[in-house]
Amino acid sequence: MSRAVIYETFGGPEVLELREVPEPHAGPGEVRVRVTAAGLNPMDWGIASNPQAAAQFGITVPSGFGYDLAGVVDEVGSGTTGFAVGDRVYGGAMGRAVADFAVVDTHAGAAEMLWHTPDGISDEVAATLPVAGMTAAAALAAIDLRSGDTLLIGGAAGGVGVFAVQLAKLAGARVLGTASEGTFEFLRGFGAEPLTYGPGLADRVRALAPEGVSAATDLFGTETAETALALCVPPERIATIAAGPTPPGGVRAVGGFDASPDAMARITDAILAGTITVPIAAIFPIEKIRDAVTQQADRHVHGKIVVIL
Ligand SMILES: NC(=O)c1ccc[n+]([C@@H]2O[C@H](COP(=O)([O-])OP(=O)(O)OC[C@H]3O[C@@H](n4cnc5c(N)ncnc54)[C@H](OP(=O)(O)O)[C@@H]3O)[C@@H](O)[C@H]2O)c1
Repeated sequence: MSRAVIYETFGGPEVLELREVPEPHAGPGEVRVRVTAAGLNPMDWGIASNPQAAAQFGITVPSGFGYDLAGVVDEVGSGTTGFAVGDRVYGGAMGRAVADFAVVDTHAGAAEMLWHTPDGISDEVAATLPVAGMTAAAALAAIDLRSGDTLLIGGAAGGVGVFAVQLAKLAGARVLGTASEGTFEFLRGFGAEPLTYGPGLADRVRALAPEGVSAATDLFGTETAETALALCVPPERIATIAAGPTPPGGVRAVGGFDASPDAMARITDAILAGTITVPIAAIFPIEKIRDAVTQQADRHVHGKIVVIL
């Protein structure tokens, strides 16, 4: 037997239970990961609380919980290539990550991701990277971010934001990022110029960047995308990751799976070089999964939340 976070009905953190479950095993083309750390994302509780969102990912109850994970391969299915028992890995397992063991499909083209964890990157940090890192990279690539751009990021201090800000600075952009006032120093620490979200955003952007912004990425709804449109940023230079499939005014809807295959290596190389740091806002033991999800669902996390096993 092994432990897994399970929910039998859709709902808030209170539906999450830590249960003893039979150990899963790796089938053909799969590996089993002994999970040591799982990173949380809004989609985890979004899926667990909303049957329609769950259905989009093929999830029905009872279900396991979480996507991002890191750990060690401890079982390799027949025909699996590229992974061996003992390899340190990180990646994603849809609805199965917060568990002692997670089976990951490594077939080419599978909707799950698995990479080898570079020496020098801890499992806690590796577990923060798959969804947030890939989505940040995709959101910047979609708007063709380049050196000299002035970029407006909405929701710049969250899980995706901390990667987007740092990747944009590395690319040579000036970065304006929205947050609440208490978060300003946190964002300045990453080289971003903070401004508050909410009504009047366009005026605050004009005051901070009178010469205008050249690109924008919205990591929280549509306010930043709409503001950028109002500031005459061309729609093809505006991306949103959180507006659903039909964003306003022809701006680009982007997801983590749109990232280029080399995006993750660029991020891990930068972490190893010390040019990207991963702020971990809190680490919870698996027994405290409800507290971890409650903090995540509050939507004022600065960086990432990690659950350890
Ligand atoms: N399409 C995809 O593939 C994909 C992938 C990943 C994430 N997402 C979505 O993208 C969104 C961001 O994900 P995340 O992991 O970065 O979320 P997160 O970590 O929960 O974001 C938290 C941040 O949001 C900020 N925030 C709170 N209210 C805000 C508002 N009204 N306007 C702007 N910012 C606000 C907070 O700043 P303060 O604390 O300063 O208020 C906080 O730093 C989520 O909706 C998620 O579901 C989509």
